[in-house]
Amino acid sequence: MEIERLLFENATRVSLFVVIALAYFLYRRYTRISVSHIPGPEPESFILGNLPELFQSQVGVPDFKWKQQFGDIVRIKGPFGEDRLFISDPKAMQYIFHTAGYGFLKWPERTEISRVLMGRGLLWADDAIHRRQRKVMLPGFGAPECKAFVPIFLKAASALVEQWNDLLASSMDQSVELNVASWLSRATMDSLGEAAFDYHFGALENKENELMKAYFGLMSDTLGQPSRQAIFTQTVMPVWYLRFMARCSNTRRMVHARHTAELANDIAQSLINMKSEALLYGKENKDILSLLVKANASENPASRLTDEEMLAQMRTLLLAGHETSSTSLVWCILELSRHPEVQSRLREEIRATERRLNGRQFTASDFDNMPYLAAVLKESMRFQPAVYQNYRMAAHDTVLPLSKPITTTTGETISSLPIGKGTKLVLSIAAYNRNKEVFGEDADVYNPDRWFRNSEKKGPTVGVYGNLLTFAGGVRTCIGWRFALYEMQSLLVEIINNFELGPTKELERLRREACLVMLPTLEGEEIKGENLPLRVSIAGRD
Ligand code: HEM
Repeated sequence: MEIERLLFENATRVSLFVVIALAYFLYRRYTRISVSHIPGPEPESFILGNLPELFQSQVGVPDFKWKQQFGDIVRIKGPFGEDRLFISDPKAMQYIFHTAGYGFLKWPERTEISRVLMGRGLLWADDAIHRRQRKVMLPGFGAPECKAFVPIFLKAASALVEQWNDLLASSMDQSVELNVASWLSRATMDSLGEAAFDYHFGALENKENELMKAYFGLMSDTLGQPSRQAIFTQTVMPVWYLRFMARCSNTRRMVHARHTAELANDIAQSLINMKSEALLYGKENKDILSLLVKANASENPASRLTDEEMLAQMRTLLLAGHETSSTSLVWCILELSRHPEVQSRLREEIRATERRLNGRQFTASDFDNMPYLAAVLKESMRFQPAVYQNYRMAAHDTVLPLSKPITTTTGETISSLPIGKGTKLVLSIAAYNRNKEVFGEDADVYNPDRWFRNSEKKGPTVGVYGNLLTFAGGVRTCIGWRFALYEMQSLLVEIINNFELGPTKELERLRREACLVMLPTLEGEEIKGENLPLRVSIAGRD
């Protein structure tokens, strides 16, 4: 009898909880400012709405389709009929990224993914915590600091060139098929190690390097092609449940993420200890971690990073600073292999500049004076942005300004859109970067020459580089954007100066894997991680 009474009491409590939760959910749904009158695609199901198409497709597929069908502001469905907005409108983007400051926060369930992969660092933080963390981090990423890293980047680039030359020397026909994605990932890991931590990872020399093995394939393995169940869990379940699963789940994905986190934590901790000791003995170093340790020591104690935050920043730099640069370069090199005329023109500019150097190394200002190099990079990062979407949520009721009026499903024409607190937004960097009003009628075509068109700036200011959103914008602009540009220029100049890159048959199976960054994988071999098979041969000299 006692057991029956307890069961009955528990069942009553659970039912009461469910009823209250449902009532609250419906109250929020129907009292919030509605965006249901904005045109958008039919949901696939009531439970998951349009989310399977959003998260399971290859990069850009839903973005370009919805943009073409419905324009720059699209209503999509989240779970259980919830309305969300899919945005690529330039004026709305400017408002969200810049004008509103911290008025749009990250989706809590997405920041949980950041926490698992990188800890409570910059990519996880929001609002006041983000502002405090960013202030301590900024001194390491100024223009002079990043320019001074160029010799380090060139060293990693030369090491890669040397290894490719060795492979070519032992090949039968002076050409080899290489997984360029794996090579670039290791090269950027080495240059990040030296510039950011004054530490030699040795990833280029040793493919079996423990940390590199853990990072390689991390994103595609943990985030690529999520099942419907994973989408449901990640979007519907509360954050405490996600946290619990991150700690206890024994799925392959979670085990990989936890193993990488432990490894990165150990390495980060020993590096921080080394730097703190060096600072104590008055040793000055110019790597980012040393600057960070120094900036943190001189901050007002209330504004300092905690030990846990310091570790998280290092893990953030390890992931955000290596995978993004190598991925951007990978897609750039793919475009160069598809457009041999662009590749040759770039090589001509590199060699003309090299002749003027009289045997000295390239410097940051040499790169700054190579207009075609800049055009190729801008165009590649416009056309193939490594980070293709951002996810934000309105922190309070607000009104989005629009670049051009839209017609609602009730036939009304509006030039601004009121949205309620908590409305979730998908900001499509990929679709914005192909906006025809901003980048020209041929925005869907790869063409570096667009950057020489003598036209005045079009569209509102949104991004730090070519007005692209590839590095995001406003208070959350990529902190490493200058670092990335000099690093990519160094690698690209060395590679194109020495080698010719061409497509292979394998590219027919190329996928644009959506896993926070856009990774190249091969159909049927996604689990093996990033792969861009290209034919590499020596670039002849006259
Ligand atoms: C071409 C290469 C890169 C691209 C395309 C890129 C892109 C981005 C984007 C889109 C964001 C905003 C993400 C968000 O708010 O959710 C971001 C943030 C960030 N990036 Fe990069 N990034 C690149 C290279 C780097 C490098 C080399 C570093 C460091 C060495 C770096 C460190 C960071 C950090 C720490 C943040 C967080 C900034 C904040 O929230 O305040 N990134 N990056």
